[in-house]
Amino acid sequence: MTRAHLDGIHAYLSGTGYHVPERVVTNDELAGLMDTSDEWIQARTGIVTRRFAAEGEGVADLAIPAVEQALRAAALTVADIDLIIFATTTPDYSAPGSGCLIQERMGFGEIGALDIRVQCSGFVYGLSIADQYIRTGTYRHILLIGAEVQSTGMNLSDDGRDVSIIFGDGAGAVILSATKEDRGILSSHLHAQGKYAKDLWLELPSSRRNPRVSHEDLDAGRQWLKMNGKEVFRHAVVRFPQVIREALDANNLSIEDIALIVPHQANLRISQEVSRRLNAPEELLYSNIHKYGNTTAASIPIALAEAIAEGKIKPGDLVIFAAFGSGFTWASALVKW
Ligand code: COA
Repeated sequence: MTRAHLDGIHAYLSGTGYHVPERVVTNDELAGLMDTSDEWIQARTGIVTRRFAAEGEGVADLAIPAVEQALRAAALTVADIDLIIFATTTPDYSAPGSGCLIQERMGFGEIGALDIRVQCSGFVYGLSIADQYIRTGTYRHILLIGAEVQSTGMNLSDDGRDVSIIFGDGAGAVILSATKEDRGILSSHLHAQGKYAKDLWLELPSSRRNPRVSHEDLDAGRQWLKMNGKEVFRHAVVRFPQVIREALDANNLSIEDIALIVPHQANLRISQEVSRRLNAPEELLYSNIHKYGNTTAASIPIALAEAIAEGKIKPGDLVIFAAFGSGFTWASALVKW
C-alpha cells in the first residue's frame, strides 16, 4: 500500500482527455453476427453500444487525440513531459511497446516510455507508479495512457458471444504533475491473484510455443479472448468493495466523504452490486458503459474525462478510482481534486 499524505511533493491530475473510434457498434449489429439480442445484452451488462477501431487502427492511433487533449487541459506541451506510461493489454505490436510509438509520433524526444500490462487494472497501477516517481522528485510531469483495441481479439461468432458483447475500443490519457498543494493522489492500493489467470485470458501468441501461433491454433480459436464470466462476476463484486474500503480506511474516511467513484466499467450489473454492498447510492459510481462497453485499461480515464466534462467533479472533492480484471488484478486510488 502507498501511504496517505499530501505533505511534500506528490502527484495531482493536471489534465485529462479521451478519444474513441468513430465506428459505433450496436447490440443489433452484433445480433446479426451471433446468436444474441439487444435485450439480452442490455439486461446482463447495461451495454447499448460500443466503438470498434477502423481496420489498421491501433492503440497508438487512438491514444494520440486523447494525449493532445490532456496536454491542452494541463496547459503543457510534449516538451514538459518527463515519462510516458502506456497501459494496454492490446499493444500495436508484441514489441516494442506502444509507449515507444507515441513517443516517436508525437515528438516527445528521448524520454522514457514504459508499457504496462495490468489489463483492466492497468490505469490504476499506472497512477500508482507515476505517483512514486513524482513523490521521489524524479519526474515533474508524467503522461499516463490507457488504450485498447479489443475488437480484433474477439470471436464475433456464436462461440465468442459471452465475451464479444462486453468489450470495446477506446483511449484515455491523464497528465500527473508534481505539486505541494493540498490536492492529488492520497493513496493507491494494488493487488493480484494469479491463480485465476485463466478465468479471463488471451492465450496466444505465446512464447511457450514455436511458432507462437500455428494454423492449428487459429483453427481452434486459441487467439481469442476467453472468459469464465460467472467466476469473474463472483470475484469482482467482492474485490471492488474491498479495495474501495481499503482506500477509505487508509485515509480515515467513510463512503459518505466521497464525491464520486470512477470504477473500471466492467459491467453495469457489477457496479450496481458494488454500490449495494457499499451501502452507497448507485449514482456514486460513475457509469458510461452503455456507450462504450468495457474498454479495459481505457475505461477509467475515459469515464474520468467525461465525468469532469459533465461537472461531476469539483475542486476539493474526494474521488476514488477502482478496478478489477484479468489476472485477477484489482486496485484503487484515492484522489483529492
Ligand atoms: N447472448 C445470448 N445468450 C448468451 C450470450 C449472449 N451474448 N452469452 C451467453 N449466453 C447464454 C449462455 O449460453 C447460457 O445459455 P444456457 O443457459 O442455454 O447454457 C445463458 O446465456 C446464460 O449464460 P451464463 O454464462 O450463465 O450467463 P450469465 O448470467 O453469467 O451472464 C455474463 C454472462 C458474461 C454477462 C456474466 O457472467 C458477466 O457479466 N460476467 C462478468 C463479465 C465481466 O464483467 N467481465 C469483465 C471483467 S473486467
